[in-house]
Amino acid sequence: MSNRLSGKVALITGGSSGIGRGIAKRFVAEGAQVAVIGRDERRLRELKNELGENLQTMQGDVTNHEKLKDMIEDAKNNFGFIDTLVCSAGIGYRLPLQKATLEEFDLTISVNVRSIFDLIRIAEKDLKSGNSSILLISSIAGHVTFTDHVIYSAAKAAVTKMTANFAIDLADKCIRVNAISPGFIETPIFDQRLKQDPDFFKKMGSLVPLKRMGVPEDIANAATFLCSDEASYITGVDLVVDGGYVHQGLLPMKKNQN
Ligand SMILES: NC(=O)c1ccc[n+]([C@@H]2O[C@H](COP(=O)([O-])OP(=O)(O)OC[C@H]3O[C@@H](n4cnc5c(N)ncnc54)[C@H](OP(=O)(O)O)[C@@H]3O)[C@@H](O)[C@H]2O)c1
Repeated sequence: MSNRLSGKVALITGGSSGIGRGIAKRFVAEGAQVAVIGRDERRLRELKNELGENLQTMQGDVTNHEKLKDMIEDAKNNFGFIDTLVCSAGIGYRLPLQKATLEEFDLTISVNVRSIFDLIRIAEKDLKSGNSSILLISSIAGHVTFTDHVIYSAAKAAVTKMTANFAIDLADKCIRVNAISPGFIETPIFDQRLKQDPDFFKKMGSLVPLKRMGVPEDIANAATFLCSDEASYITGVDLVVDGGYVHQGLLPMKKNQN
């Protein structure tokens, strides 16, 4: 690693698992100090044991406004300031239309969308003007249409749109706001699906032009670039990291096939 994030202090929601955890590990390896928010005490403890003093863990629910305020204060007190926010906390599952309830709709929007709006509004005044950035984890589900995913897709389309809006609203403070839309990434979000079908990752990987599922490191690579000073003229983008999935069209053809 090359200390590309040296001197930065990042707050990462959903840092206890999957993509957020991969980003936290990479950011520490690149020289950043990192505070992660999650709910699962065991996962947070394991991560702290692994990453040591450059990592602070905070247990809390991102849908709780007061708790979110306290956790941001805690991180600032611990590291002195915050200049990078990564919003990776999210839930998502396949829900056939007639089984999806209004409660599930409200919960998904609350975790995946409302918490981002809340976090940015609370933290924005504390982010250093001129050298700060925000990264939202959206999804290809906000770009293409999957069966039985209306709630999750609506939430992620909102995240992608919010990225552009926040980028413009915070541009006068030179706070950059970008998103990553991952494709299919091997994380615990698919634990239930894997229990039903142990070949799930293999099957999904075969649908991707690059012929594999992504791993959290693939997203951490893109996140490191977007949150580093190398991306200092990039704001408002939603970078799709999906092995080419969204571009293959509905009828993929074999090479040399008419
Ligand atoms: N994996 C994929 O293929 C994929 C594709 C596109 C987009 N994404 C997006 O990537 C993000 C991360 O997902 P993942 O795949 O890494 O899943 P994951 O392993 O299940 O991680 C989800 C994270 O969100 C946290 N979280 C969920 N609800 C929370 C709440 N109310 N308060 C605080 N933390 C909460 C979890 O914390 P605890 O476990 O500690 O509660 C966990 O750290 C999500 O926004 C997801 O929509 C994933």
